[in-house]
Amino acid sequence: MVGDVTHLPPLPAIPPDLRTLADYERRAQAHLTPEVWRHIQEGSGAEITLAENRTAFARIGLLPRALADLDGSTEIELLGRRHAAPLLLAPLAYQRLAHCDGELASVRAATALGTGFIASTLSSVSLEEIAVAAQSLGTPPPLWFQLYLQPDREHSLQLVRRAESAGYEAIVLTVDAALKPAGIALPPGVEAVNLAGMPRPRQTAVPGGRILLGTPLAAAAPGWHDLAWLRKTTTLPILVKGLLLGEDAARAVDEGADALIVSNHGGRVLDGLPSPVELIQSVAEATSARVPLLLDGGIRTGTDVVKALALGASAVLLGRPVMHALAVAGMAGVAHAIHLLRTELEAAMAQLGCPRCDLLTAERLVRLG
Ligand code: FNR
Repeated sequence: MVGDVTHLPPLPAIPPDLRTLADYERRAQAHLTPEVWRHIQEGSGAEITLAENRTAFARIGLLPRALADLDGSTEIELLGRRHAAPLLLAPLAYQRLAHCDGELASVRAATALGTGFIASTLSSVSLEEIAVAAQSLGTPPPLWFQLYLQPDREHSLQLVRRAESAGYEAIVLTVDAALKPAGIALPPGVEAVNLAGMPRPRQTAVPGGRILLGTPLAAAAPGWHDLAWLRKTTTLPILVKGLLLGEDAARAVDEGADALIVSNHGGRVLDGLPSPVELIQSVAEATSARVPLLLDGGIRTGTDVVKALALGASAVLLGRPVMHALAVAGMAGVAHAIHLLRTELEAAMAQLGCPRCDLLTAERLVRLG
């Protein structure tokens, strides 16, 4: 962590008592300043959605088939690429808040474990350096670039072109966070380096004047025309992140999205939203299996992954746990956290009698309580 000495440094080795992502979360607080800890953990409003992202998983039970043949693997194909497991690291801004190596540490861990990595527009290491770090370790995992549209379309275009030339294989257009209040005051050394020289929209409301609606900030929020523009601009696959309703999902596919990420931004934007696991089946019905669906929000255990897949997700994204593992032990921590989750996933699949991801269906689920 940059610019502060009041908290513990990252551990040089993984202690044996770190056995779950919850263990990492418990440990992480001591390795972060109070401000950064709050920034990572917080949800919007009364944090109803943040809590729901966990409790929605707890309401779903599992129905195992006995004595099944367990020859299989967690491998999946997604957008023409093999993934070792149905798991990618979510786009997370400013990872140098959690560890001085930031995104370099997490992308190296992802590469070591063949796990897809999504670099944020707001990464604290440039998108080019992230790609080089992955590529220099041998076969890079699927690397995607998450795009926050910039108020000036020329700047959005520059970001897309830079991602294409750096070797990113897909663009993830996040559509649910343009009006999210600015987060933390960044400490020295942590910046949105990809956006150097580009003006950032800010909320500048004064009493008696316009607050949000009708302001330049609202004008810069993405609309359907932006998705149409992006589709014409790049030949890379486009994923739209932050849709929850079937009608919007179907329209996004009609407009050329190649995959969707059903997400409520980890409960950080509009409080009161249901959890993506509650909605993914209706999104799947509305899009009739035309594109793969990914899901994030509250994934913390192997059984969470199994439940998301059984409800129709092709893969899931891991958010906050990456920041926790980075803070606790940098690259080794993130690699270990991915390994722990994959171990739990394989154990859950074996216990359920489903040795391949495509065998996980809603028949393996039951409502609890
Ligand atoms: C995020 N998220 C996010 N999403 C995105 O599209 N671009 C971004 O830059 C960020 N930045 C970011 C920072 C931090 C600290 C958090 C916690 C989250 C949202 C993220 O990609 C993902 O949707 C959620 O984190 C998933 O929920 P969990 O796994 O954190 O519960």
